[in-house]
Amino acid sequence: MNVKVIQKRENITTPVFLLGTAVNISDHEFFRQLDKADKEYITLFVKKSKGEGEFSYSVFLPSGNQVLLVGIKTKRILTFRNSVIAMRRVIALAKKEKVKEITVNFSDFVPAPPAGRQEKKSDEEALAELMASQFELANFEFTKYKTPPKEGWNVVQQALIYADLTQTDAEKIKESLRRGKIIGEEINKARMLSNTPGGDMTPARLAEAAAKAGKTCGFQVRILKEDQIRKLGMGGVLGVSKGSAERPRFIVMEYMKGKKSDKPIVLVGKGVTFDTGGLNLKPDQSIYEMHMDMSGGAAVIHTIAALARLKVKKNIVGLIPAVENMPSGSSYHPGDVLRTMNGKTIEVLNTDAEGRVILADALEYSKKYKPRLVIDIATLTGSAMSALGQRASAIFTTDVKLEKALRETGEKTGDYVWPLPLWEEFEEEIKGTFGDFANIGKTRYGGAITGAVFLWQFIKSDMRHAKRDKGNKEIPWVHIDIAPRMTAVEGEFLAKGAAGASIGLLAKFLREF
Ligand code: BES
Ligand code: ZN
Ligand code: ZN
Repeated sequence: MNVKVIQKRENITTPVFLLGTAVNISDHEFFRQLDKADKEYITLFVKKSKGEGEFSYSVFLPSGNQVLLVGIKTKRILTFRNSVIAMRRVIALAKKEKVKEITVNFSDFVPAPPAGRQEKKSDEEALAELMASQFELANFEFTKYKTPPKEGWNVVQQALIYADLTQTDAEKIKESLRRGKIIGEEINKARMLSNTPGGDMTPARLAEAAAKAGKTCGFQVRILKEDQIRKLGMGGVLGVSKGSAERPRFIVMEYMKGKKSDKPIVLVGKGVTFDTGGLNLKPDQSIYEMHMDMSGGAAVIHTIAALARLKVKKNIVGLIPAVENMPSGSSYHPGDVLRTMNGKTIEVLNTDAEGRVILADALEYSKKYKPRLVIDIATLTGSAMSALGQRASAIFTTDVKLEKALRETGEKTGDYVWPLPLWEEFEEEIKGTFGDFANIGKTRYGGAITGAVFLWQFIKSDMRHAKRDKGNKEIPWVHIDIAPRMTAVEGEFLAKGAAGASIGLLAKFLREF
């Protein structure tokens, strides 16, 4: 989609009126553009519609011109949260009505500043970036496997953003829109990968996608095959991959545009290209969407791609253990004990808790880089969904500053996260009987937490206090369980299927970190 800022009202195509309950249509920026008959007609139409609460209408006025009317439930846009939904609603309406070009009024979407606080220019730039990214997200449809209709897909081709700005401010907004569009595009590419059925998305294909992104966006990609994975001693990755005809890959991405002396930030993504559960086979309802179990991996590829296209001057590494979890004569068994790259063993009590087993090796590998921060992203547990619902990903970290910063970035990007506890008490739950750690907890409660605590064992140092006393600090680490946000839900105005969680969040967070 082409997104442009315009400063002259003359260029308006299909105006969008975003109306809060406290906004009179006659006060709207675009109202004065209309002729008398159109003004009367639209005034009556809105009067009738407001009685209905929230509304979305396409209206042909007496002049023959078309306008879009979007009514929201609050007095006006109050928060970034409201704005996110309003932006997507506008695009959803345009798509439904087959409108190819729209014009929105930027100030309709600017949240009211909290009492006692002045609006800041930087807020406007952040909003413009959000607008361009949300427009892209809402415009996305996964059509790869469908025959295109004769008239083409219903997508918006151009969004003009009218804003009354000085030339310098317009330039800044233009730049923010450019950045937002890049982020939206990269999120959509990740959604494409996640939506691709398991038959077509294998570990090798995921690795090819990473290589392609590296080539086009400018970062290094190395793909380790089975023999190299074995040489590294990654018994977790090898164990989970045993049952599948599709052989594993370990994907290493390096974007090193920071200072040589800067320690990198490492992103680790779960790349299970299909999760059947293995011999602990999933029931039919649960197995259905498990081609998206590589969404963490896709997020890592396209977060780095976005940062590279934005020319961020940082050192960022991406690691993806990619496997398929299948039951067969060669599968790993419940009871198997796997030796991971760091020498610790995992007693597999359930082959469906496979994500943590492959991530254990990847977290150990991340230490090679002496990272200043490690973030792993994984569709790890159904429990995270039970705990939070489907509107936020779960985050786990012992670093309260990181937790707060990520939560705030979530609010600004519409890519929400919410914390769950990471407490040592839970370590009792994952002690193994015949191995060092069991891959599931002893009870059926708090599964998202036991998953996180399991991963923690592979990033924190062994004799924590002894090492810390020698000046060897713990690696700051965050685990993001994106299972709750794997797929879009009703009412958020995104296409069915993958939601592309955590890319918007991380692209913004890492730029500022
Ligand atoms: N990939 C699943 C988690 C998942 C479930 C993601 C639903 C998205 C939607 C993961 O590998 C899994 O199967 N986890 C189990 C762990 C259990 C066996 C301890 C779960 O959450 O049920
Ligand atoms: Zn599983
Ligand atoms: Zn899984």
